[in-house]
Amino acid sequence: MLCVRAPGRVNLIGEHTDYNDGYVLPVAISLETRVYAQPRTDALCHIYSETLDEQHVLNLADLPPPEQLPDGFIRYVAGVAAMVQQHAGRTLTGVDATICSELPLGAGLSSSAALEAAFAVLWDALDDLRLERLTLAQLCQQAEHRYAGVRCGLMDQAASLLGQAGHALFLDTRTYAMQHVPLPPDWAIVVADTGKPRALAESDYNLRRAQCEQAVVALQGVLGESVVALRDVSPEQGALYLPLLEEPARRRARHGVGENARVLAFLTALRHADTAQVRALMLASHASLRDDYEVSCAELDAMVEACLQAGAIGARMTGAGFGGACVALVERAHLERFLADAERRYRARAAYEPRFYACDAAAGASLCPMET
Ligand code: GLA
Repeated sequence: MLCVRAPGRVNLIGEHTDYNDGYVLPVAISLETRVYAQPRTDALCHIYSETLDEQHVLNLADLPPPEQLPDGFIRYVAGVAAMVQQHAGRTLTGVDATICSELPLGAGLSSSAALEAAFAVLWDALDDLRLERLTLAQLCQQAEHRYAGVRCGLMDQAASLLGQAGHALFLDTRTYAMQHVPLPPDWAIVVADTGKPRALAESDYNLRRAQCEQAVVALQGVLGESVVALRDVSPEQGALYLPLLEEPARRRARHGVGENARVLAFLTALRHADTAQVRALMLASHASLRDDYEVSCAELDAMVEACLQAGAIGARMTGAGFGGACVALVERAHLERFLADAERRYRARAAYEPRFYACDAAAGASLCPMET
């Protein structure tokens, strides 16, 4: 029997930048998904989700195409199997597997990336593939594109597979350069789930990505072919040329250009534990996601406000948006008071049931010793 754990993630800053070749700064969190698996001698997989009480059977020697699979978690498992098999050039080992997850579904904490990462690490170990973590992350991203229909970037899978305890992961999604950035030990990371489920997230997400791509085509008209992605547009060029674009591409691009610059500024602020700057950058990120990118909602705005009034260093929506969670940074010494106060303030403004998680920055997915 093997057990694999894979963490969810929360993004400190750099939202909707990873499909624009930009920078991201996620943290793998201590909420995780576990997969317990017994290898089989054939290519069949019996996959049971304890969380959803749902069982599916897959044949790795004859994987169905995505459109023949039901919606839901099995698509991610089948997608990872298909992508890893294609990469390895052989059929993987069948398993009887049980999935248990602490990650709330639909809260924007990447429960799907954690599930993908867990199965990628499982098959990497079972079939002795010894693939690089970055390769596994890319295969998981492909699985999400092809089997879940979300044209996501690499952030979530990279965080779940490459995170380091006590550190945020700074990733350049163009060059794949990365740095593990230590978090100030007296700051707690709080995930504040609004309780508002994400609505129409896939189609709106893909639409935002398409609007960024339209903006790039229009900017190529003025700045030339050297602009391959929004990453290539500096804030100064943005100020000059974005007004030439049509709406909504103009505002979408303004978010992409500004957010990328904010990640670099945030890195410096984090290194100096500069609370005023961290706060200003998180607030600017949230405002841009709300006003220019239009992926926030009343509950996310209310939660950010509640967290700030309760004394957070900074707070912003995190993940794709359209519902889900906020991230807040909080002085550990004030954590208990913060949690009670933020919850009271949010409840006074919103009709949904909030949940707060004080998280540690966890290590990326790994095999875990089996409890006896
Ligand atoms: C989702 C995607 C990521 C990223 C975020 C927004 O979590 O899976 O790739 O684009 O949204 O930053």
